[in-house]
Amino acid sequence: MKYVFFLLFFLVVFGSCEQAAKEAIVQKSGSGSLEKKIPQGYKPGLGEFMLGVQTHHVKLWFAGNAENWELAKFEMDETRELFDDIKLYCNDRKELKYLPIIEPGLDSVEHAIAAKNISGFKSAYMFMTGQCNSCHRSADHGFNVIVVPDKSPFPDQDFKKH
Ligand code: HEC
Repeated sequence: MKYVFFLLFFLVVFGSCEQAAKEAIVQKSGSGSLEKKIPQGYKPGLGEFMLGVQTHHVKLWFAGNAENWELAKFEMDETRELFDDIKLYCNDRKELKYLPIIEPGLDSVEHAIAAKNISGFKSAYMFMTGQCNSCHRSADHGFNVIVVPDKSPFPDQDFKKH
């Protein structure tokens, strides 16, 4: 019961803070100037997005190998979302014209996950990784080579299905 009160208290406080913050933004910006402020907000660069892609790429391998298809699908969805964000937020980067290179790789990993096919997953993963590198080479980043990971750098995450 104590926890229910805590939860309610938290919801009320958080709800009003959020409302106050929204009002502050509206008041500070005045009418019409909010749009001008948005471009000055923090926007991750392509390299930062790629660090996220790298993390999901590693986790995807361990999830797929453990035949934890639910987690593998999650990692794949996150990867897709990051590529969508890249299209949206990094459209000033000329390298983006090579981005479609990755599409067939994403599709084949997704198919293998949906089919829960471990050997199909492994080959699709290698195919996709090759496409990461094709894009890096096309974008003059051929020095940045992505491989299939051999050991998880995430000791706090169990990739097995529970
Ligand atoms: C547009 C084509 C393109 C595709 C597709 C692509 N990359 Fe990249 N990647 C780049 C570019 C360009 C950079 C350099 C970004 C910068 O200027 O900071 C980069 C940088 C990176 C970095 C370096 C980040 C760092 O600071 O060490 C990693 C890691 C990376 N990519 C992983 C991947 C992985 C994994 C995939 C595939 C799942 C992938 N990339 C697919 C273009 C691509």
